[in-house]
Amino acid sequence: MVKKKEENIETKEIEIEEVPGVGPKTAEKLKEAGYTTVESIAVAAPQDLADIAEISEGTCNKVIAEARRMASIDNFISADQILEKRKTIGHITSGSKNLDDLIGGGFETQAVMEVFGEFGSGKSQLAHQLAVTVQLPKEKGGMEAKGIFIDSENTFRPERIVQIAENYGLDPKQTLANIYYARAYNSDHQMLLAEKTEDILKKGDVKLVILDSLTSTFRSEYVGRGTLAVRQQKLGRHLRKLHQLADMYDICIFVTNQVSTAPDTFFGDPTRPIGGHILGHSATMRIYLRKSKQGRRIARLVDSPNLPEGEAIFLVTSKGVTNP
Ligand SMILES: Nc1ncnc2c1ncn2[C@@H]1O[C@H](COP(=O)(O)OP(=O)(O)OP(=O)(O)O)[C@@H](O)[C@H]1O
Ligand SMILES: [Mg+2]
Repeated sequence: MVKKKEENIETKEIEIEEVPGVGPKTAEKLKEAGYTTVESIAVAAPQDLADIAEISEGTCNKVIAEARRMASIDNFISADQILEKRKTIGHITSGSKNLDDLIGGGFETQAVMEVFGEFGSGKSQLAHQLAVTVQLPKEKGGMEAKGIFIDSENTFRPERIVQIAENYGLDPKQTLANIYYARAYNSDHQMLLAEKTEDILKKGDVKLVILDSLTSTFRSEYVGRGTLAVRQQKLGRHLRKLHQLADMYDICIFVTNQVSTAPDTFFGDPTRPIGGHILGHSATMRIYLRKSKQGRRIARLVDSPNLPEGEAIFLVTSKGVTNP
């Protein structure tokens, strides 16, 4: 299924310059932002194109309408095809059976998995863990694949990778070599890096892309009331790209999001993302982490489309994430 989709796109030979309304300059800007096919324009949001190509939204609507006319998009497929595609979903173990069971067998491909929680709750630890476990053979809960780590907080620690790899009996040097790493310096850079992962993903040996953190660059750059709409819009575009990558390349996108506990909240949701609900409900699965006693962490599955809500307890140790 996934392959077929790629073929469809690759065998289309219409260049985006051929879409009426797309001049060479516009085409260049769009391509830079990852809109390389007529199909990608046909399904784009007008506001996104307007931002990228710096043209009016009215023009964008026309361009999108033309692209839709030219593109071959299979709008409807039968539900059994969806079931078939879902059967190809891969899973990556977290190292804790409790946590894996909670989320239906591990961190999924074809999905954007959001882990949120306050500082020290284990988000980055999980990120390091998955960068190793994705490399394990299938029978040990991995996918025999490589990972990409986009680090916006400068908290990636190769030493941690070595410790976790040794615990699984993997060669630490090889394990490190199987992780593509990039530091994201600001939100635009982060978005560009996410788009550029496509060059690596095309090779087909990557099954996991980590963004630790997804939201911190956006938070630090867009402060104050007036900037919220712009921030949401950009973040929305970023997430749409991530979903597209997850779907097209059958990979797991693991993103972290820091939230602060609001001590004044006694009822309802005790956590509030700093500066409002940035992500809303755009991730495929959302997992809320909180600290407990003796190094324990509690994970709660929030708003899953197909799994019951529940909690799991796991440990963060020097060897990585494990069951208590
Ligand atoms: N080598 C280690 N051995 C045992 N526990 C460790 C080790 N390294 C980190 N930890 C635990 O992990 C915690 C840090 O977790 P982590 O870095 O994942 O937090 P986070 O959720 O990413 O926080 P932030 O929002 O600040 O990025 C430490 O407080 C410690 O409890
Ligand atoms: Mg962290």
